[in-house]
Amino acid sequence: MGEIGVYEAMSTLRAVRRLRPDPVPDDVLRRVLQAAAWAPTGGNVQPWRVVVVRDASKKEQLGALYSERWRAYAKQHMAQLEGAPAALRESTEKMLAAGDHLADHFAETPVVLVFCFNPKLMAITDLKLGRVSVVGGASVYTAVENLLLACRAEGLGCVLTTLLCESEPRVRELLAIPEPWATAAAVPIGYPLKRGHGPISRRPVEKLAFADTWGEVWS
Ligand SMILES: Cc1cc2nc3c(=O)[nH]c(=O)nc-3n(C[C@H](O)[C@H](O)[C@H](O)COP(=O)(O)O)c2cc1C
Repeated sequence: MGEIGVYEAMSTLRAVRRLRPDPVPDDVLRRVLQAAAWAPTGGNVQPWRVVVVRDASKKEQLGALYSERWRAYAKQHMAQLEGAPAALRESTEKMLAAGDHLADHFAETPVVLVFCFNPKLMAITDLKLGRVSVVGGASVYTAVENLLLACRAEGLGCVLTTLLCESEPRVRELLAIPEPWATAAAVPIGYPLKRGHGPISRRPVEKLAFADTWGEVWS
């Protein structure tokens, strides 16, 4: 395993969308998948699986689907930026340029990890609340986050993507994912083309955490 500390890994785990096509060695791939397998899940059921896609033709087809979705997303995102402050425009344009690169080179990514979940294996405690349900996702994305952190430790670039979920029927067919399994994320991984992981921009914890009551300043 890498020598990096967990806090350093978390505070530098930014999205890396420019990846080299060089292969990821099997032992490294195994370690990052092992990290995913260590994640906690509701009732320890582990209602997730991951399809490790390295086949060129499958990556090509996933890339075409991803690119279609990305273009639509990027167009909408840019339109929303009209009149936004210059700094926000600039950082968003940078992100979109990196996203364009990923969309253009998706098929050249050495490995794409498609995370799937089985809702029938989950105790989804917020299903009947009449709002968007998120609890089920917590038994999948813990594994995804462990994997991302392990990639960071291994010097592998990676980014959690969800746009392919919009094309789930076609992804299901391509990867032979059986019902009721469904898709939660696709994570392209590979060695970074440029600097890779680095500083991140996040809200300060004081804006995110409250003291005892919602809205009460925590310090
Ligand atoms: C739920 C979720 C979905 C995401 N989907 C995508 C995606 O489809 N494509 C993409 O390029 N990035 C995606 N991202 C990455 C975020 O855009 C990225 O983490 C965020 O902009 C912060 O950037 P940073 O991690 O580089 O600081 C997703 C992240 C999350 C947590």
